Amino acid sequence: MCGIIGYIGGKQAYPILIEGLHKLEYKGYDSAGIAVQGPDSLKIIKTKGKVSHLEEKAGEGFPVGFAGFGHLRWATHGAPSEINAHPQKACSDDFALVHNGIIENYLSLRRWLESEGHRFVSETDTEVIAHLIEHYYRGDLLESVQEAIKKVTGSFALIAGYRDEKDRLVCARKDLPLMIGLGGEENFISSDLAALLPHTRKIHILEDGETALVTASAVKIYNTDCTVLQRKAQEITWDVTSAEKGGYEHFMRKEIMEQPQALRETMRGRLLEGGRKINLAELDFAPEEIEKISKIFIVACGTAYHAGLVGKYLLEKILRIPVEVDVASEFRYRDPLLCADTLVIVISQSGETADTLAALRLARERGQQVLAITNVVGSSVAREADKVFFTWAGPEIAVASTKAYLTQLFSLYLLTFYLAQERGAMEQIELQKAGEALYNLPDQVEEILNREKEIPGIASYLSRWESAFFIGRNLDFAVALEGALKLKEISYIHAEAYAAGELKHGALALIVEGIPVVALAIQETVLEKSLSNIKEIKARGGYVFCFAREGMEALASEVDSIFYLPSTLDDIFLPMLAVIPLQFLAYYTAVARGCPVDNPRNLTKSVTVE
Ligand code: F6R
Repeated sequence: MCGIIGYIGGKQAYPILIEGLHKLEYKGYDSAGIAVQGPDSLKIIKTKGKVSHLEEKAGEGFPVGFAGFGHLRWATHGAPSEINAHPQKACSDDFALVHNGIIENYLSLRRWLESEGHRFVSETDTEVIAHLIEHYYRGDLLESVQEAIKKVTGSFALIAGYRDEKDRLVCARKDLPLMIGLGGEENFISSDLAALLPHTRKIHILEDGETALVTASAVKIYNTDCTVLQRKAQEITWDVTSAEKGGYEHFMRKEIMEQPQALRETMRGRLLEGGRKINLAELDFAPEEIEKISKIFIVACGTAYHAGLVGKYLLEKILRIPVEVDVASEFRYRDPLLCADTLVIVISQSGETADTLAALRLARERGQQVLAITNVVGSSVAREADKVFFTWAGPEIAVASTKAYLTQLFSLYLLTFYLAQERGAMEQIELQKAGEALYNLPDQVEEILNREKEIPGIASYLSRWESAFFIGRNLDFAVALEGALKLKEISYIHAEAYAAGELKHGALALIVEGIPVVALAIQETVLEKSLSNIKEIKARGGYVFCFAREGMEALASEVDSIFYLPSTLDDIFLPMLAVIPLQFLAYYTAVARGCPVDNPRNLTKSVTVE
């Protein structure tokens, strides 16, 4: 996500803010900006691109002042550009703020504020909050911020400043981190501990719904009722490097742990009324467009391709529309049979993968409508597709994709059930159940994450082998492919995923005494068949780690180790839970082998060559 830094005290704010922005750079961003409370104006400098560009822009004579705030933006509403960078201002240049998060009701607020005479210049949702603060201002910045945030729905961590209240900054949070570092006669605010630790270890971590008034010598924290709270600051013992990784040793583990929050962002504004309604009006499909879709192609690479395979099972099962899934580099050269009424879905975390982009262009040249599922606003894929569905996973830093994959899956579920809703392809009651299951999924993901300690034992066995198999049928096979890819890319173990029924057609020859086999036996409809495949492996000495569902305890006596997924969800949703222990498995195996988890050899995060 984006990064925030704020300072107020006896020193020049600008160098402290720039240093703070550098500390936040590791998170990934596309533009940067600062505001400094000068003697008689709020001086704002912002730019698309790096913090170093911002420094060049500020030049030698940087803005003078003892309070200010800075921001690194990871675009959500509106492409990366100077105008969309933060700080965002209101109509007058006197109010400004920086904001992390997404304001769901920004369009209706913007329309209302425009009718009240406010003029907007950016495409951001953030600008709405600046205007709201201006609108409610009656001589007290804190009160106007408290009033403004009552009107917004969505997530936010923000700092606001007003020209005539130079001695104070106001900050607020909901669903995103924001903390205040106490430094004696100066105070610091940030979305990230890493930016505070060089200055202080005494930290107030704001809770959801809280606002704070921060001056050089005091911090007052208020709850949602605007009552002052008495709370002691915490003493933080982490070093800066572990703070960057949220206290984890690797970004990959941090990103695995971030998945519940990432899913909540993906569903924000899309799953309404506790999941009973799916709203993807953002895709701007006309009813007749949805009605006439008669074929779907899903095109992607690597992990995103594996998400597409789950999407195929799902779309075909729910919509009864034929779906083909292609690796992007193959799609392009196989002269695909595209016809009228085909929807092409491309999936790409980065939005810059050359093969996926080439496939997208080919589809568009052939007159196809292309819907992109991507994580990066302003990316080539996002710009060139006809319709874009953002996954909102936030920046993913580890090369091995985890939270981006899960949010891609979730997006495909949302899309499928939305199309079903619009096509009348499901009974209302069934649709509601599906929406509710999706709505509650982040909690279920949390439960699986809490069982992390069941995995290192398995990983320790796996780490001693140079070869492993992953097997599964139907949806389990799609997940097995992803599990095997994760393992091979970060632990360098040769891992093969096989459709369980295919083993006997050749690969069974490779099953030798002790070889690790990860068997996914989750899908109830093929349980008997999966069990026979497991028995074939056991009979040849394979060592089977089984992933099953509660209620399938009979499997336990057939395998060497078993991990149960909850039985509360319908089979169809389980890929989104099953992948999590497999992510941990790859992670702990790589750690046991001493591999550089976040930066595996020969791989880069964004593959921009064909
Ligand atoms: C594996 C991984 C890659 C990417 C692939 C496509 O963990 O991350 O397989 O999924 O390179 O990348 P995007 O999604 O950026 O198009």
